[in-house]
Amino acid sequence: MCGIVGYVGSDEACPFLIDGLRRLEYRGYDSSGVAIHGGESFVITRSVGRIDSLVDRIGSVSPVGTMGIGHTRWATHGPATEPNAHPHLGGDGEVVLVHNGVIENFQILKDELIKKGYVFHSDTDSEVAAHLIAENLKNTAEIADQPNVRYLTAVQASIARLRGTYGLAIAFRDRPNFMIAARFGSPLVIGVGKGEYFVSSDASPLAGRTDRIVYLADHQIAVLTPEGFSVLHRDSGKVRVDIRPLEVDTGDVSLGEYEHYMLKEIYEQPESIRNAMRGRLDDQDATAVFGGLNLTPQQLRSVERIILTGCGTSWHSALVGEYLIEELARIPVSVEYASELRYRNPPIENNTLVFGITQSGETADTLAALRETKRKGHRTLAICNVVASSIAQAADGGVYLHAGPEIGVASTKAYTSQCCVLAMLALYFGRTRHMSYEAGQGFIEELRRLPAAVQQALTCDQQVRDVAKKYCDATTVLYLGRQYNFPTALEGALKLKEISYIHAEGYPAAEMKHGPIALVDKQTPSVFIVPRGTTHDKVMANMEEVKARGGPIIAVASHDDPHIDAIADDVIRVPQVPGFLQPIVTVVPLQLLSYHIALLRGCDVDKPRNLAKSVTVE
Ligand code: F6R
Repeated sequence: MCGIVGYVGSDEACPFLIDGLRRLEYRGYDSSGVAIHGGESFVITRSVGRIDSLVDRIGSVSPVGTMGIGHTRWATHGPATEPNAHPHLGGDGEVVLVHNGVIENFQILKDELIKKGYVFHSDTDSEVAAHLIAENLKNTAEIADQPNVRYLTAVQASIARLRGTYGLAIAFRDRPNFMIAARFGSPLVIGVGKGEYFVSSDASPLAGRTDRIVYLADHQIAVLTPEGFSVLHRDSGKVRVDIRPLEVDTGDVSLGEYEHYMLKEIYEQPESIRNAMRGRLDDQDATAVFGGLNLTPQQLRSVERIILTGCGTSWHSALVGEYLIEELARIPVSVEYASELRYRNPPIENNTLVFGITQSGETADTLAALRETKRKGHRTLAICNVVASSIAQAADGGVYLHAGPEIGVASTKAYTSQCCVLAMLALYFGRTRHMSYEAGQGFIEELRRLPAAVQQALTCDQQVRDVAKKYCDATTVLYLGRQYNFPTALEGALKLKEISYIHAEGYPAAEMKHGPIALVDKQTPSVFIVPRGTTHDKVMANMEEVKARGGPIIAVASHDDPHIDAIADDVIRVPQVPGFLQPIVTVVPLQLLSYHIALLRGCDVDKPRNLAKSVTVE
């Protein structure tokens, strides 16, 4: 949550900061601000709401200066007001900073600083860091010929006192071409240009400005000037860093022909699924290959249990994974909410693998759950989209989704890629156990057909628009499915809730009669996910039960299902694929349904209220 950017170089800083904040806006959009060093002092502009309102506030004449920092906020401490917007000044204005994270001991530090005479202008935890640095600066002597050392020492002394998480970009009134960035628990990337350096919460703002980046690790501090940059460990001096190529290009982060990122990402799914599979299917041995798991054949065969953990949509893909791995590899799987796993302390047997599933790789609960299980000696692995993210770095190994940047706050393509990776993992584990060579081959063939099936599922768009028009004023919608399509029901309901603000519930279809059926009336539509398969007839019976009580029925059904029109009021047809791959196909019309309903209700599809893309707080 929250996005930060920084620039030091010879160009005007403001255009990069604004453009960068626009690309990071998915991380929070309660307020935003920039501070530009004008040579003598900072010009700070802040505004409540979206980056557009910051741009309006700046007006036609941008502040001039070649060094600056910026921030887009998802409010934690204090409401979305202008005083709470970043950047925050410290002392008498000698320090200015932007912060992503939560300083847990801020109240103790604030009380201390107030006693020393510091005046606070916001309710935020972040302002504490600014004053603390100003205080340490006051207490640190300058070293002759090394003016930067004093600033660095003050920052080191200050962050040593912070408890919690931070990604910080810090600038100083009296050092116009100098910036310090520091990371613990919140992501930070340095862009390496020619005579210019960039700081950002993720790599997307850097696309088009540089193709060389450095991911800071926890406890690292970067010192940036137009002449160069260096990275230090908080306690142990300079460290060597890997400068990596930037893998995001401007096309990945632009809208192209689409009106919204969510729609673009829904339509990218045939390609993102192809990318998830690329190089991972081994026809010769009829299996999948996952070098990044770092498991020896011996370790692979000795796995006795798997825990899949994550939050939100990633938790739903974990449920799909549970069905897949148990059915195809016969390994017992437990699915855990990461937020519960981190405190629940369940007994975990030896030879258990723990997979954290996450698009962003930054979700605080998932990170903490992995750290906690790792501490207890279990092998932790990540299924993750964002390269070098905190979770990717913290895990013992893992699998990247290669879905490309997902910018719409509602997860779509990352979900189907997660399900696809979990299907390949089921194949991988299955082939070391009971799954035959022929079964492995058949599985691979089905996986290869998947992108085309998803492509075909996308052609339901017009049908979905019609359904959306009919039901966009509903106040409650039920989503019902069984087995592999139970997680799809949960995911369909979550998508609708988060972007259209309609109350929705997902249930196993047969559970409906144990309570939720009481909600059924003429105004409450039920979406049944009912492709042909083992439970098809049972779900049809559940549909009859809803119909008998006057509830409108929307069915997501197979193309060649001859009976469905007789029961359902509206039918959305999808191609038939085997049961274990159905969630990847049946979720597509539900993503589109939530999108079109949200549009009709005038909601901000890509930036729904109260949400942010990566949830880096507990
Ligand atoms: C819903 C959604 C969230 C995320 C959840 C976990 O559309 O996007 O529920 O799935 O916050 O995020 P990641 O996958 O980044 O760990």
